[in-house]
Amino acid sequence: MDGQYKLRSMGVMPVIRRRTKIFLIVILIGLFISPVWAIDPGPYRLSAHGDASIGVKRTERTDGYARGNCAHCHEQHGVIGGVSNGGPYAFALFSTNFSGASSAPYSASNDVCFLCHGPSSVQEGGIINYDYSETYGGYTGGPSTILDAFNLVNTSSVASYHNLKDIYNFAQNNFSFFTASSNPCVACHNPHLVKRIKTNQTDPASYTVVSLPSAHNTLWGDDSGEKMSDFTNYYQAPYYYNSSTSYEPGGSSTYNGSNLPDYATFCTACHNATNTIYSSNLGRNLRQIDWFSGGGDSASGTPLPDKHGKNSATVSVHLKNPFASSQLGITLGFVTSCTDCHEPHGSANPFLIRREVNGTIVSISGTDSNQIGYLCRACHKDDAAFGLSGGENRWEYIHHIADDHPYIEKQCGSCHGSGGGGGGKPPISCLNCHKHGSDDSWAGYKATGRICF
Ligand code: HEC
Ligand code: HEC
Ligand code: HEC
Ligand code: HEC
Ligand code: HEC
Ligand code: HEC
Ligand code: HEC
Ligand code: HEC
Repeated sequence: MDGQYKLRSMGVMPVIRRRTKIFLIVILIGLFISPVWAIDPGPYRLSAHGDASIGVKRTERTDGYARGNCAHCHEQHGVIGGVSNGGPYAFALFSTNFSGASSAPYSASNDVCFLCHGPSSVQEGGIINYDYSETYGGYTGGPSTILDAFNLVNTSSVASYHNLKDIYNFAQNNFSFFTASSNPCVACHNPHLVKRIKTNQTDPASYTVVSLPSAHNTLWGDDSGEKMSDFTNYYQAPYYYNSSTSYEPGGSSTYNGSNLPDYATFCTACHNATNTIYSSNLGRNLRQIDWFSGGGDSASGTPLPDKHGKNSATVSVHLKNPFASSQLGITLGFVTSCTDCHEPHGSANPFLIRREVNGTIVSISGTDSNQIGYLCRACHKDDAAFGLSGGENRWEYIHHIADDHPYIEKQCGSCHGSGGGGGGKPPISCLNCHKHGSDDSWAGYKATGRICF
């Protein structure tokens, strides 16, 4: 937590607690003319935004403010060069903090962050931010700005994204730092602290950009106790794209997550076993997630504890490398990170599923049938990996033949429905059984009770 947020010590916080915009504006004027933060570099100066050589600098702001100055985001009088900026806007920002837009595609003016972190940036020279699969997974060809990542719905009918209005609603109901005028990006990021993570791909923990909602004024990931290797000793990093010797993040030789922020704790600050979260994209409340409990297949409760979390796989599991011959020296008991499978902002795949996982390209065109299997086969052995005919993304072996198979091949129709010939059976929708917090009770009297995720 090196990046302690010092605005509090500048005497600003008591004023903000009253959330009075006018006072805030007055205080901001004070800060601009005050030499305090110019002399004491502090955490803001160490942030990507406050950096004197790569920090904020709006092209239109030609009135002498140095790169990194607060004035590139905050305009104290709602006036720039003697002309009104159209405001005043909340927090004396140079534009609307968040417009309240209810769904993607978003336009740059919907969110002040997009005005810089979008394809037509008001930041001098513009800003490139690739997605997780590219920056930390090494697979090129995805979106190149944050706005583009949220707007993949323009290119894929099954695309998904973190809906900003839903985040806004959830954060306002749950986090005290989050005001009615706040920005949904700020639920996950503190713009006064974020580090330049993208140029430090092999050490995103030291240059982290996220803050836990319960500790908004410090960064999460940079201190001891805040890495994936602290969440568990059993984290095996997936392969970097096109390599069988280097790992995520960034293609380094580190394989135990000691260079990765503990994104399991970060994401479960919201997605845990107790919060009810509504998704307007999906039109329902989200499934809850227990990434922490154990108990194998005898665990109970709602949601059931996931085996990709701290709950352990049982008897045997049929994994590809690097899991199959993990340097951790284990064959069961692995724990994965949410970001091994998910993007944080948006994806052309459903459910924020990454377009590359463990070095394998993952292209999912729907949520029915065996489509989700294209994700599983990045880490698990499909029939092709066992050398069976029928090939890629077929799953007969592990369900019917492997040592630990759950089902015998009898009365095919009760699970597969009708259709198929010559031993071929139409695939059953994986999501009937494989989803967060679920067992195989979909199979009715043939269910094994095994936990399927
Ligand atoms: C990259 C743009 C950016 C820069 C640079 C920036 N801020 Fe902010 N600031 C914001 C945003 C956005 C908010 C609104 C936070 C929210 O939505 O709740 C904010 C909010 C604030 C607040 C209200 C309290 C809070 O943290 O929410 C204060 C005080 C503040 N800024 C002061 C400063 C000072 C002083 C500097 C320079 C040292 C600075 N800001 C630089 C974007 C910026
Ligand atoms: C649900 C939490 C969440 C929300 C909401 C969110 N982010 Fe992020 N963001 C993350 C995480 C986690 C990372 C670190 C992983 C990464 O870099 O891709 C990240 C990384 C970033 C990065 C660095 C990307 C890089 O180059 O590696 C930027 C820039 C960013 N976010 C901007 C935004 C903006 C702008 C918004 C709002 C429009 C936003 N984020 C909303 C979680 C979030
Ligand atoms: C005035 C332009 C501007 C605004 C507005 C702005 N940013 Fe930035 N942001 C930058 C610049 C410049 C950088 C550093 C650029 C670089 O590293 O290439 C940066 C970097 C970042 C990073 C570090 C990631 C990285 O390595 O690129 C994060 C995270 C981030 N911004 C999030 C946000 C969020 C969230 C908001 C809105 C609350 C926001 N930014 C608003 C200009 C802006
Ligand atoms: C092994 C890959 C994998 C990992 C690791 C993973 N997920 Fe998922 N996630 C999925 C798949 C597949 C789906 C679609 C099935 C479902 O909805 O549960 C999904 C769906 C979701 C959903 C939408 C649930 C819904 O109601 O449809 C959320 C929220 C989510 N994941 C959050 C997380 C969080 C938080 C973590 C880390 C604690 C995480 N995921 C780790 C693969 C993964
Ligand atoms: C600040 C709270 C918060 C945090 C932190 C957070 N989420 Fe979410 N997430 C939400 C909300 C609210 C929704 C519902 C809106 C939606 O579906 O887009 C959601 C939806 C999702 C969905 C379903 C998206 C869809 O439409 O299918 C996935 C998957 C997901 N989150 C994964 C993650 C992962 C992975 C992380 C960590 C990198 C994370 N979330 C961190 C609040 C959060
Ligand atoms: C990032 C790699 C990765 C991906 C992608 C992945 N898994 Fe896993 N999965 C694992 C690991 C590692 C384990 C072992 C966990 C343990 O040892 O406790 C596991 C265990 C399991 C188990 C427990 C098996 C048992 O014997 O108890 C099931 C079931 C499972 N995965 C299903 C899936 C499905 C279905 C998908 C696709 C939707 C999927 N996994 C995608 C890495 C992955
Ligand atoms: C208790 C449920 C159940 C019964 C009964 C069952 N299966 Fe399956 N079978 C599965 C599951 C689950 C899978 C993995 C999902 C999938 O691929 O359909 C599977 C996969 C398959 C696959 C691979 C399908 C593909 O293209 O991916 C074949 C072939 C198959 N089963 C044949 C049979 C035959 C033949 C019978 C009857 C003699 C049968 N199964 C009975 C559950 C069952
Ligand atoms: C009727 C429920 C059901 C359906 C539908 C189903 N599975 Fe499974 N699957 C299971 C059960 C039960 C297990 C065994 C879990 C265990 O061993 O504890 C399993 C295991 C797995 C595993 C982990 C196996 C290992 O040992 O590594 C993967 C991967 C998997 N299934 C993928 C799929 C895919 C892909 C689909 C869709 C094409 C699918 N399954 C459909 C019930 C189902």
